[in-house]
Amino acid sequence: MGNASPHGEQRSAELNLPPGPSYPTPFHYFKELKAGPLEFYRGLIEEYGDIACVKMWPRCQVVVAHPRHFRHVLINEIERYPKGITFARRKDIGGEGLFFSEGNLWKTQRRMMMPSFRRSALVDLIPHMTIGANAFVERMEKRIGEPAFNIAPDTAKVAMDVACRAFFGSDILDRAQALHEALWASSQYTGYVSTNPLAPPLWFPTKRNRQARGALKTMYGAIDELIAENRARGDEDNVLARLNANVADGQMTEQQLRYEMWTLLNAGHETTATTLAFAFALLSENPQARERVEQEAATLGSRPVTHEGLSSLEFTQRVVRETLRLFPPAWGTGRECVEEDVIDGYRIPAKSILTTLFYVAQKNPVYWDEPERFDPDRFLPERSVDRPAESWCPFGLGGRSCIGEDFALMEATIILASVAQRIELRLEPGAPVEGQVFGIGPLRPARGISMTVHRRA
Ligand code: HEM
Repeated sequence: MGNASPHGEQRSAELNLPPGPSYPTPFHYFKELKAGPLEFYRGLIEEYGDIACVKMWPRCQVVVAHPRHFRHVLINEIERYPKGITFARRKDIGGEGLFFSEGNLWKTQRRMMMPSFRRSALVDLIPHMTIGANAFVERMEKRIGEPAFNIAPDTAKVAMDVACRAFFGSDILDRAQALHEALWASSQYTGYVSTNPLAPPLWFPTKRNRQARGALKTMYGAIDELIAENRARGDEDNVLARLNANVADGQMTEQQLRYEMWTLLNAGHETTATTLAFAFALLSENPQARERVEQEAATLGSRPVTHEGLSSLEFTQRVVRETLRLFPPAWGTGRECVEEDVIDGYRIPAKSILTTLFYVAQKNPVYWDEPERFDPDRFLPERSVDRPAESWCPFGLGGRSCIGEDFALMEATIILASVAQRIELRLEPGAPVEGQVFGIGPLRPARGISMTVHRRA
């Protein structure tokens, strides 16, 4: 735990707060932050070190960027640091689904949902991934010869397609666009309420609230339809089919099931879509890596990826990890400190917001040689031994880490390999590959990812 000490003697009103700037009100602070959160936080860490504090009324925000701080907040002191106020307003949209719930409800739900996401259970979901991947390649093949286009909406479509097949057992491509737009609109809304302390409650009739309520109606309407279709078919081989059994035996309410299905769809599609878009761009910029992915894919012949085939795609798996290091969609997360603490000899007052900057640790030259360079082999076991596990955490850490980590890694690997079997995606010469955080939402391609499609030689 390094010198982060939660207990006893060190806790004292005499200790200083971590160093950092002061703002008269949260409004002044959010105005500056929203202009470029990553740049703002990086600047803070450069100026003050791995722990900094933004002081304002009525609570301060402590920003941490060292792996030992992540371990402290997200693992060792998990009870002291619930999600609390940092995610509270987002419940307007996602209700009490796994991402936002806390305490006993979260524990019970996590226990019920975990079996669907264990590696052994994911084997059954691989066919959904390969069908979605194949459909994506077919859509891309139709675009051979077209001028450059932004691939990000297409990666969103494939991620949505796979999520709907694996989670609901449904082919929803005809509805995917409307659903994606509604999810996007709701994510804009949650970004807004998280940075506007005076944002009116969702029922209040403002234009923004009306739009958010419209998005909610579309999303939950689609979810209800997907649940009904799943039950009518009597499915057995997807996540919803398993959760239906929990509803049938009274362990989960219908409303909770709707929240969970929304959560899976929301948490499990845009993040993967972003990862794919950046991975295609990085492979195009690094032809040697692309050739290695193609060589691995060639060992599968023209067959779809199977569970056994997946284990031979070791380099492709490292490409996914390296993409997530350079462009982590979840560049950090937030917690509320509910009981005073001490970290690195600094006082952390109760009610402080803790922000863990995964993005900064994933580019720290202490752990990552030439951190800006794309080098998937840095994830080889022999090159990883000297690195703390917490220096790479695109899926978070501890009890509340991503339930879909293995699912996302498998899915992205399968889609990269399926593309490499048949086509090549080429970045338009000179097109930028940059991440940007809009509002304080996830990291996304700043201006899309402009690519052309080519038949493999
Ligand atoms: C590349 C893809 C993904 C990334 C980068 C990602 C990232 C994350 C992160 C960082 C967290 C922790 C948030 C926190 O500590 O506050 C998280 C939680 C979560 N993710 Fe993912 N995720 C991805 C894919 C998925 C997928 C495919 C699913 C659906 C199966 C999913 C479902 C969830 C859920 C339900 C939680 C909340 C878990 C809990 O609190 O118990 N994610 N994700």
